[in-house]
Amino acid sequence: MDVHSFASGPSMLPPSVVEAVARDMVDCAASGRSLLGLPFTSREFTEILGRAETYIRQLLAIPDGYHVLFLQGGASSHFTLLPMNLLGNLRQADYVETGLWSHRAAEAARPWCEVNISARGNRSAMPLPDDWQISAQSAYCHITTNETAEGLQLHTWPEKIDVPLVADMTADLLTRPVLMERFDLVYASAQKNLGAAGLTIVIVREDLLGKSREGTPAPLDYTLQATAHSKVNTPPTIAVAVAARMLEWITRQGGLALMEELNRKKSDAIYAIIDRSGFYRCNAAPPHRSMLNVCFKLPNAELDKRFLAEATAEGLLDLGGHVDIGGIRASVYNAVPEQSVSKLVSFMTEFEARRG
Ligand SMILES: Cc1ncc(COP(=O)(O)O)c(C=O)c1O
Repeated sequence: MDVHSFASGPSMLPPSVVEAVARDMVDCAASGRSLLGLPFTSREFTEILGRAETYIRQLLAIPDGYHVLFLQGGASSHFTLLPMNLLGNLRQADYVETGLWSHRAAEAARPWCEVNISARGNRSAMPLPDDWQISAQSAYCHITTNETAEGLQLHTWPEKIDVPLVADMTADLLTRPVLMERFDLVYASAQKNLGAAGLTIVIVREDLLGKSREGTPAPLDYTLQATAHSKVNTPPTIAVAVAARMLEWITRQGGLALMEELNRKKSDAIYAIIDRSGFYRCNAAPPHRSMLNVCFKLPNAELDKRFLAEATAEGLLDLGGHVDIGGIRASVYNAVPEQSVSKLVSFMTEFEARRG
């Protein structure tokens, strides 16, 4: 039976990338060594890291003056590393609370600084940039561009604000073009659109560096890592190599404008069924809906369970909602093919006809 994964992360990879990584596991870059045993100091790994950086700079059109760091820890660790690295002499940071992940980011900052909540969303809408009340005393303002658990996404790029703008783009980095010059720091775990878990990309403007708190461990210090080209300690070599393959794949597909078009088409197909039906219910208001995580519920929890069990039996996997929210979540990141979405849409139509 064909299987189709809609996992919110780690999510599926394109088969051609999986095959290339499988070959790298045996002999990486004609080095005679497996990727598993390729030293991070080797010429081959240095080239892989360089290639990943070049692709990311080209795809995102990153202006001069930004560093691209390949770090460990996952976005959740960076929730704490952000205040450690960015506060400098200041004692306050702004957070726009739009859902579960931005709430976690704000809570992680509290032991380190005053947290000013610039705006609060609800489960159906994100506060738009014009409504953010940002304090000029803050070291930075933090936003989450896609709330993976609630299925909400910011579709308006903020204008340049008075304090550095920091964005968690874990769920939507490289899924659409970004006006990078509006941001001072962007970070993302890799396991959704960029390959394997264990890698966090941090793209940071030069003038935000040099502010880390005394005692910040060297591998977690953005300034030291920028100077050492992400090699203060052993980088997550396997995840970096997978990311390089994914970035090459995105580039060959046609880049970020095409990714956006396809991701929108996939999510629109699922939202169309939801909006037509009355049986499936989506909390997210249409202008705020994520084109990557389509979250919905059925009329009761028992039907949610049946839906998930029957979908799994049909090879439609990993459709459960976030544990704190429940319901159904179809994540349709870059690598999820349109055929998987068509299969899901047919299943939803047929399930509603039988159980609705
Ligand atoms: C928006 C967002 N931020 C942060 C995280 C946490 O990432 P990690 O588990 O890699 O720490 C997630 C995970 O799903 C996420 O969706």
